[in-house]
Amino acid sequence: MIYNILNKKILTKDDIIYLLKTDKTERNILFKKSAEVKQKSIGNKVYYRGLIEFSNICEKNCYYCGIRKSNKNIKRYNILDDDILKSAKFAFDANYGSVVLQSGEIANDKFTRRIENLLKKIKLLSNNKLGITISLGEQTEETYKRWFKAGAHRYLLRIETSNRNLYYKMHPENKNHNFNNRINCLQNLKKIGYQTGTGIMIGLPFQSLSDLADDLIFMKNIDIDMCGMGPYIEHKDTPLYKYRNLLLPLEERFILTLKTIAILRLLMPNINIAAATALQAIDKIGREKALKIGANIIMPNITPGKFRNHYKLYENKPCIDDEPDDCKQCLDARIAISGNKIGYGEWGDSLHFKKKKYFF
Ligand code: 5AD
Ligand code: SF4
Ligand code: FES
Repeated sequence: MIYNILNKKILTKDDIIYLLKTDKTERNILFKKSAEVKQKSIGNKVYYRGLIEFSNICEKNCYYCGIRKSNKNIKRYNILDDDILKSAKFAFDANYGSVVLQSGEIANDKFTRRIENLLKKIKLLSNNKLGITISLGEQTEETYKRWFKAGAHRYLLRIETSNRNLYYKMHPENKNHNFNNRINCLQNLKKIGYQTGTGIMIGLPFQSLSDLADDLIFMKNIDIDMCGMGPYIEHKDTPLYKYRNLLLPLEERFILTLKTIAILRLLMPNINIAAATALQAIDKIGREKALKIGANIIMPNITPGKFRNHYKLYENKPCIDDEPDDCKQCLDARIAISGNKIGYGEWGDSLHFKKKKYFF
């Protein structure tokens, strides 16, 4: 049965659900196939994106997230621009190829200008050599355009779940958290010319395998260039924590995430797929396992060590006691072991995006 599915050109929703349900023997067949598809379409190079989580101040109140506005149990921080630039310089000197700027969500003129200025300066300090991904939530089309012009060329905005009903179980239903707006933002990003990435959380309370299959079909339909998805990990200072008894055990959420990554690789052979940090919160070599079965991007944390402890979206976040240099050495060794090569100094753009551009 599984071989029939894996040999098909087009997977139906039922096929995807079958693959999500596979037992240990069959899931290993799935993983072998997704590893082959990765090797054939994009090879075994892994690209680094040095991740700078520059502020945990957020205007939103997502029910699952540890840095949501209403959580009073954390210390808020906002790294100075000069220190952000130092981190970017570290990434450049370490030959990482790209950086990711991420923070809690803030939308106002001052923030737009601040990011615009940072983007320009990062381009300057690296002679235009560092690639820049940003992950700064929902913004106006105008803001997205300004940031694109200032030098960002990839944008990550997770849809979190493509099921509208589930979306509103995970977020308050108000103008700050609007499902349609999130979809609009993704369309705008694509229109402007960003390599556009989205993603979901896997193992949310109330989420079914049918939902996950729909999420994968959603990604295929909107034709994303990149994806970052990881397991949902409960956080005790969030409203969603009260549903923790509905969750799959962590190990099962982990396996389900690997399966979802593998299936996405079958559906979209040449996109970039990140090995999410949340995988490592469950399994010490979780990210390496993801690289083996289909992922090709890793985001080493280059946030200065003293702030890391405060960017806790979920419990058990890895590397919080480490400094950027520790992660570099640790990762280099890990990736060598996973049978992949590091694309040092390269942007590692989505091949999917490059091919699309060629055709239009
Ligand atoms: N578990 C896993 N991932 C989470 N995120 C936020 N909170 C959690 C959590 N509790 C993810 C969301 C968001 C990204 C920045 O972090 O998908 O888009
Ligand atoms: Fe803010 Fe993002 Fe967390 Fe939502 S998921 S509360 S937008 S940081
Ligand atoms: Fe951060 Fe290993 S990747 S210490």
